[in-house]
Amino acid sequence: MYYSEDIVEEVRSSTNIVDLISSYVKLTKKGSSYFGLCPFHNEKTGSFSVSETKQMYYCFGCGAGGNAITFLMEYENFSFPEALKYLADKAGIKLPEKDISKEARKEADLKQTILEVNKEAARYYYAMLKSEKGAAGRRYLSGRGLSEETIKQFGLGFADKYSSGLYRYIKNKGYSDEVLMETGLFRFDEKYGMSDKFWNRVMFPIMDVNSKVVAFGGRVMGDAKPKYLNSPETKAFSKSNHLYGLHIARRNKTRKLILCEGYMDVIALHQAGFPIAVASLGTALTRGQAQLLKRYGDTVYLVYDSDAAGVKAIVRGWYILKSAGLESLVVDLKPFKDPDEFIRNRGAKAFQERLDKASSGFMFIIRNIQGSYDLRRPEEKTRFLHEAARELVKIEEEIERTTYIQAVAEEYGVSFESLRKLVASEAMRVPAPVRAEEEQAPALRKKKPEKDSSIKEAQRLLLTMLTDNPGIYPKISKYVYPEDFSEGLYREAATKLYSQLDSGKANPAAIVSCFGNEKEQQEAAALFQMKITEADQKERSRVLKEAVLRIKRYSLKIAGDNMNPADLEEMQRLIKGRKALEQLEKIDILAN
Ligand code: UTP
Ligand code: MN
Repeated sequence: MYYSEDIVEEVRSSTNIVDLISSYVKLTKKGSSYFGLCPFHNEKTGSFSVSETKQMYYCFGCGAGGNAITFLMEYENFSFPEALKYLADKAGIKLPEKDISKEARKEADLKQTILEVNKEAARYYYAMLKSEKGAAGRRYLSGRGLSEETIKQFGLGFADKYSSGLYRYIKNKGYSDEVLMETGLFRFDEKYGMSDKFWNRVMFPIMDVNSKVVAFGGRVMGDAKPKYLNSPETKAFSKSNHLYGLHIARRNKTRKLILCEGYMDVIALHQAGFPIAVASLGTALTRGQAQLLKRYGDTVYLVYDSDAAGVKAIVRGWYILKSAGLESLVVDLKPFKDPDEFIRNRGAKAFQERLDKASSGFMFIIRNIQGSYDLRRPEEKTRFLHEAARELVKIEEEIERTTYIQAVAEEYGVSFESLRKLVASEAMRVPAPVRAEEEQAPALRKKKPEKDSSIKEAQRLLLTMLTDNPGIYPKISKYVYPEDFSEGLYREAATKLYSQLDSGKANPAAIVSCFGNEKEQQEAAALFQMKITEADQKERSRVLKEAVLRIKRYSLKIAGDNMNPADLEEMQRLIKGRKALEQLEKIDILAN
């Protein structure tokens, strides 16, 4: 790990997780924990809990969980060192200077380095645009109506015709070629060596919500192909989890956002006085992006190109946004292709009027379906109504569905009752609601069914009960040892908890930060936050005994399966273990 366990623990323990999370999520105290709406998945009743005693959070709905550091990593998309630095700064703790020796911190470091190089590159391209060599770029951008101020705000730049200017500039700062290749800004050729990926293009730095440059897009100044060249996915950039312009749009407090397709659309909209525009950069909207939007807004104006692909994107986008809990409205730009062209031709006031006239996303979908039927012909109208009904079935919430049935019935001149009946009959026929399932948020991904899942459940129960009631530790530890836990994360966490309890105090949040990545931290957090029902709590002794027996039996079985028959000593141990288990079955382990 990057920093020593001691310093990580010092920083972590100086933060109260309830205060930290309260600044993002509204929490209410219930019993010994705080509850709120989970920020990592969409829900209406709070299953997100924060425990002050354990200094951890856990969502019983989606399984997200961890300590204060994990929370910032998940919520702010920070790396581990970034989260630590943030909390250290808040607590006034000075982190030790980096120590360059360890192999293990290479990965975390790489992201930092890529960000450093990107920042340098953005400076270089910007300076290039302002320099003599940047005349063509300046001409192009002003030709597209961008002001000096806008260029500065978005940090636009220029890569000139020579293909190794950036490389020479960056190389001078002492980075290795190996690291530079990871930034996606360079190419390597056997014959010519390293060169710049971007040349003769105007450059658009892509920033994350914290205004760090994570990638670049570069546009040709004429009609050559490809029109835009983009950074590849790197350790610092995952396209499906970013939205261009969000670092500015997030500052707006209206909870409204405009979602469009391109770099130029965002920039033109901001310049025209709509600083709430963001873009998905030509990709289909993903769940990750929808989650990001939900953090800063409740209503999204979809301003996609008015062609067939745009319509398809809207239909798909509507469902994704809806399942993230966002309302979407569709803006009609006709006869213009995109917001940039609209603004250039009609101006900001006319655009505002189009926003005001935006139609509900759902009605847009229905009208779009209607487009392929001739409603004057009775049989076509019937088929259209069936198709509309199938769309209505997809709306899960009853009140909402009723409202839309009303709206559709009104718009197409049928009675509410008959459309409602049609929807009901379609509901019997269609399978489950079709949703954009492709890219589920990581936290929502279904867990793989595991063979030993019930054993692991018993292990989690035991670990949770041990943290909740440290008093039982002396008794439990007589029977169950860290080696009895499943190999890997479970065993590591158990070993740590046992050694904490040996020295007197459980500190599960500290164990969580021993694990390197978010996924493991989340898994580790779940170990100590198993939901224990009141009934189980009352029958603690029986429940514990069952868990202990299951864990022991399994551990003995594994030992038996893996035993070397020639090893007599091991055989002896196994036999002893089995005897002990028989004994255990007869006694009350919490009694003396
Ligand atoms: P468009 O083709 O609609 O371009 O692509 P645009 O934004 O209107 O560009 P201008 O106005 O001609 O400059 C929309 C978005 O799709 C991505 C870019 O993010 C672009 O902004 N795209 C498009 C690419 O990544 N590569 C391409 O070759 C084309
Ligand atoms: Mn355009």
